[in-house]
Amino acid sequence: MVPIICIASIYLALSFFQGVEGARPPALYVFGDSYADTGNHDKQNPEVWQPWKTPYGSAWPGNPSGRYSDGFVLTDFIAKFLNLPSPSPYSQVREMPATGVNFAYGGSGVFFTYGPEYINISAQIDQFEQMAKGKPVDFANSLVLFVYGGNDYSVHLQKHGVRGIPILITRVVRQLSSLLARLHQLGFRRFAVTNLEPAGCLPSIRMPRSKINCSRTDNVLSSLHNRLLSQSLVSLRTFRGRHSKYILLNQYKSFLDIFKSGATYGFGAGLLESCCVGLMKGAGCGSVDKSGKALYKICGDSSKTFFWDGVHPTQVGWEAVTRNYKSLLDSLA
Ligand SMILES: *[C@@H]1O[C@H](CO)[C@@H](O)[C@H](O)[C@H]1NC(C)=O
Ligand SMILES: *[C@@H]1O[C@H](CO)[C@@H](O)[C@H](O)[C@H]1NC(C)=O
Repeated sequence: MVPIICIASIYLALSFFQGVEGARPPALYVFGDSYADTGNHDKQNPEVWQPWKTPYGSAWPGNPSGRYSDGFVLTDFIAKFLNLPSPSPYSQVREMPATGVNFAYGGSGVFFTYGPEYINISAQIDQFEQMAKGKPVDFANSLVLFVYGGNDYSVHLQKHGVRGIPILITRVVRQLSSLLARLHQLGFRRFAVTNLEPAGCLPSIRMPRSKINCSRTDNVLSSLHNRLLSQSLVSLRTFRGRHSKYILLNQYKSFLDIFKSGATYGFGAGLLESCCVGLMKGAGCGSVDKSGKALYKICGDSSKTFFWDGVHPTQVGWEAVTRNYKSLLDSLA
C-alpha cells in the first residue's frame, strides 16, 4: 500500500503546483510609474494633473485619460496581449475588479520623489493589500506588471548631478528586489519586470543640453541599473524561482532597437524629438497661460513619432516597444 500512497501524494503535490504553468493569467496587477499609470492621479490637483490636460489622450480616447501619452501606454498593451481589459486605476475603483487593478502613479519611485502625491511603490503594494483583504485573488496565476522608469534618479540628478548616483543605483535596485520579494511573499508567482529605458535618449535629457544624439553618460547609468537588476532577477529566480516565473521586459533594448532602425517601425525623421513640446522654459506639453492659450506646440502627425513628450512614448511608440513582449508573455500560458 505504501508506494501507492506515495505516488498519490506526489501526484497531488504536482497538481497543486501546476498553477504557474498552463493557465492564462486571469488578472493583471500593476505597480510602478508613468510608463504604466492609466489615470491614478487626481484630476483636480494642479500639482499632478498634467496627464489630465489637453493634448494628452488626443489619439485615444480623444481626450485626456490620465495617461502620460497621446493614447495607450505599456499597461494597455500588456493587458491586450493577455486578452484582459486594461486594469482600472486604483483611484477610480472601490471594489477589486476580478481582472486586476493598476496601482501605478506617474512620477513615483521606490523612495520619496516629487511630493506626497507620488505614491511610492511600497505604498502602492500597501494599497493592494488593503483592497485585497478578504477578496479571492488568484495569486498563483495572475501576472504582476512591475514598471520602474527611474524617477528616483531624475530627482537626484536634478538636485545633485551624477555625484552619488552609483550608490543610489545600488540602493534602488536593492529596494526593487525587496519589493518583488514582498509580492512573492504575498503569493504572487508570475512577474513581468521592466528594466530602465536608455535615459540618455529621452528628449528631456538631451534637449536642455542641445544634444542631437543620446547622452552616453546617462545611458551608462541606465545600463548599470539594468545590470544590477538582471542580477537580482537571477537571484530571485534561484531562490524563489521554483513554481515562479520572472520575465524581464527589456525596455533598454527595445528603445535602442527602434532608435537604430526607426524606418522599419514606420517612424520618420526626428525620431528622438518629442511630438508635444513647451514653447518656452518652464512650459511643458499641456501648459497654458492665464487666458488658456496653449504654451506648447504639437507635431503634425503623432502616429509618426516615437516620443510624445520629453519622457514618454506615443501610443505607436509603445506599440513598437512592446512588439517583442507578446511572445514572452505567451510563455506563461
Ligand atoms: C513610502 O511611502 C510611505 C507612505 O508615505 C512611507 O511611510 C514609506 O516610508 C515610504 N517608503 C520608502 C522606502 O521611502
Ligand atoms: C550622432 O550620431 C550619428 C549617427 O550615429 C553620427 O553620425 C553623428 O556623428 C553623431 N553626432 C554627434 C554630434 O555626436
